[in-house]
Amino acid sequence: MSSPSRLFEPISIGSMEVKNRIAMAPMATDYAESDGTISERLIDYLAARARGGVGLITSEMTTIDEFSPYIPRTVALWDEKFIPGFRKLTDAVHAHGAKLIPQIAHPGPESLSPFFHQKQPVGPSPVMCFVTKHISRELDRDEIETIIEQFGEAARRAREGGCDGMELHAAHSYMLVGSFLSPLRNKRADEYGGDLDGRLRMPLRVIERIRERAGKDFPIILRISGDYVIEGGTGIEEAQYIAPILEQAGIAAFHVSAGMYPDYSSRIIPPTGTPLCPNAGLARAVKDVVEVPVMVVGRINQVRVAEEVLERGDADMVVMGRALLAEPEFANKARAGRLEDIAPCIGCGIGCVAGRLEGRDMTCVINPWSGREGETALVPAAKPRKVMVIGAGPAGMEAARVAAQRGHRVTLFERASKTGGLFNLAAVPPHKQELTRVTKYLTTQLAKAEVELRLNTEVTESIVAEEKPDVAIIATGGAPLVPDVPGIDGPKVTTYQEVLAGRVPIMPGKVLIIGGGVAGCETAEFMFQQGDYPLVGHTSVTIIEMRDAIATDMSPEGRVVLMDRLRRKGIEIMVRTRVVEFLEDGVLVERDGQQEVIRGIERIVLCIGICPVDELSERIADKVGEVHVIGDAKEARRLCEAISEGRETAMAI
Ligand SMILES: Cc1cc2nc3c(=O)[nH]c(=O)nc-3n(C[C@H](O)[C@H](O)[C@H](O)COP(=O)(O)O)c2cc1C
Repeated sequence: MSSPSRLFEPISIGSMEVKNRIAMAPMATDYAESDGTISERLIDYLAARARGGVGLITSEMTTIDEFSPYIPRTVALWDEKFIPGFRKLTDAVHAHGAKLIPQIAHPGPESLSPFFHQKQPVGPSPVMCFVTKHISRELDRDEIETIIEQFGEAARRAREGGCDGMELHAAHSYMLVGSFLSPLRNKRADEYGGDLDGRLRMPLRVIERIRERAGKDFPIILRISGDYVIEGGTGIEEAQYIAPILEQAGIAAFHVSAGMYPDYSSRIIPPTGTPLCPNAGLARAVKDVVEVPVMVVGRINQVRVAEEVLERGDADMVVMGRALLAEPEFANKARAGRLEDIAPCIGCGIGCVAGRLEGRDMTCVINPWSGREGETALVPAAKPRKVMVIGAGPAGMEAARVAAQRGHRVTLFERASKTGGLFNLAAVPPHKQELTRVTKYLTTQLAKAEVELRLNTEVTESIVAEEKPDVAIIATGGAPLVPDVPGIDGPKVTTYQEVLAGRVPIMPGKVLIIGGGVAGCETAEFMFQQGDYPLVGHTSVTIIEMRDAIATDMSPEGRVVLMDRLRRKGIEIMVRTRVVEFLEDGVLVERDGQQEVIRGIERIVLCIGICPVDELSERIADKVGEVHVIGDAKEARRLCEAISEGRETAMAI
């Protein structure tokens, strides 16, 4: 395919010349040093995206205030001592021809100050942060003056650190500037509140001071929500009202997002199954009222989508976040027309958003080396070996690909007639079809790495004896977990794998889903849709979950969207409920110590997880010098762990 044209046209943002139309979105990583200094890790991570061809990198939220961190290790610019770190970062990014701007902000109500400095967060008015649950204190006028000066000084330091401009965060009714602008958070009666002009006063004064301290030619990009997409928030009319005023005040470009916290909405970090580039229309509306460039963000994860936004004239630049975690080389590969080599972001949020919230490292499911760029070069194998990988699910495919890329001779065996394993079923429920992109990508890369793929082949001990590999990697996945509960063999009981594989007819009637993890919830949605025949009868679905809540194994954004769909479909949810016995046409359950019989059930579907399947490792241990068991075959977990374990194992052989 010919290289996409408009994406690679240069663009000027004020005094800054950017070589193409691809920008990286700010993403808080927690990779900084604990005092807020830019770390080598952060430099390696951002330089990898610059090397990958991105024109403009927006580095993560950078605090202006010593006592107001946003995450445990918040990048900082509240003192001169942070300038050398920025100098190193900007040198590394500039070496690849990219530009770098930090997102300079005060976290305001979202500050972690109560935890790190025993200080109450501040805001325009007393409002609650939905993460910390702390209420902010209303700032007085003197404090506002101090903060305005802190913004100016931080911007000056950014410039001295070699930054090409900065981003000011005023979107999402979030952090301090966004909170002043928001009618939902700014309840002040003085000149900084009241009407829209009052709410704009603080942002305008910040912009003015930044220009005084950092220079009028230091480009400021303003991140705004084109629409809060929430009752009581503001819509595009307000964005169109404020944008020309802000442009007049010196804003060099607008970066249009949408949504507001705490509605972890599908518009801020749009999850799997939601529309691609949902903010294009909003960007277009802002572009209609300003002369300066307009950038758009939100689930732009394919070259085609990025190109269409520019072609339609909805925006002048596309901003990508998670897609660049999945594929640091996105821009270079797009330019070379190597679209099939772009590792796809599926919007799952499991590696990135949930990674940090769950106290793991922020990374990416598809690219578990995101954030470890300095330590994960693909080193050729010291001695090429014959490697047998058994099982072509994500863990096996990744292990085979990376081992082959390192120079090993790799054969990948799969019992089924296609690659993907159980992961193929994860793409069956509504809103999940894009998961097929992962299997397609991994399968394409196998061929490119010259892995020999043998489908329809059940590996036995004798096949292993014939092959005589130096290394065997067992990636045989898992099987449905079936609990030892009376009545489990009943005719109405089946597993979600059987349902999603299409081996169980779905008729109108009552369905019980046992297990409210993400698989159970998505199977509920699938059955609701498949079994509903308006002229014959309807399907009603109930999810039974032992714990306090369902779908806790998802990213917050994905969970909000899924829960909303379940609610709209009328799917009933019973938490803290355990099945005691499966009956002929129902179940006996125990909820909060009380037993209850549920009858008249058409189908009971087990979604309580999977158990590892490994029938080979022990049997071949004396035939093969090195045997590794990976992915679900070792322990049932998520895609994240499967891919990461495949890669790590391939690196270790
Ligand atoms: C892990 C993570 C951290 C983020 N941190 C920030 C941040 O520090 N500041 C900000 O304005 N947006 C932040 N965002 C939002 C992104 O900038 C971006 O708007 C969002 O991810 C949607 O773009 P995408 O679909 O291309 O990922 C973050 C997103 C993710 C996934």
